[in-house]
Amino acid sequence: MNIREATIDDLLGMQNCNLHNLPENYTLRYYLYHALTWPQLSYVAEDEKHRVVGYILGKMEEEPADGIPHGHVTSISVLRSYRRLGLANKLMKQSQEAMRDVFGAKFVSLHVRQTNRAAIGLYRDTLGFEVHGVEKGYYADGEDALHMRLNF
Ligand code: ACO
Repeated sequence: MNIREATIDDLLGMQNCNLHNLPENYTLRYYLYHALTWPQLSYVAEDEKHRVVGYILGKMEEEPADGIPHGHVTSISVLRSYRRLGLANKLMKQSQEAMRDVFGAKFVSLHVRQTNRAAIGLYRDTLGFEVHGVEKGYYADGEDALHMRLNF
């Protein structure tokens, strides 16, 4: 398994992976916006046939309310048969490093469904994120989101 920076050629593979894994989906234009604006913040995991089996779509917050530059994880997922191999952990770390080193981010934030045990385990237990707040009814089906943060 190889992890590398995402390119424009990966966007369909990333979108396909996202559609398999999550109900939160995005237009191809939004993937393209990420890739063109913050090319250093999105990564893919690929198998030996160069198929995308996992991705992280990362960005910088464009107008931070508190004026502090910080990154944001728009989406991360790994295809089911490639989970628990450490891929998401590596994808997160690569993107976080670039947020800090390339864009001067002071922290990274994200939203996650409060029932998403696997993702919360990854963020809190493996990476050290903390819950910064709860956003009521954040998701389209009404579920609350945990707003999580990791200071660099
Ligand atoms: N249950 C509990 N803890 C878990 C689980 C799980 N099912 N999966 C991962 N973890 C935690 C563990 O602490 C794990 O360390 P360990 O394996 O040493 O115990 C650690 O996370 C690292 O696991 P990885 O192998 O790096 O994670 P993986 O590559 O399997 O991907 C992910 C985790 C992305 C959450 C995957 O389960 C997935 O794609 N789920 C569906 C999509 C999703 O929920 N994405 C996140 C939405 S929120 C957002 O995008 C900002």
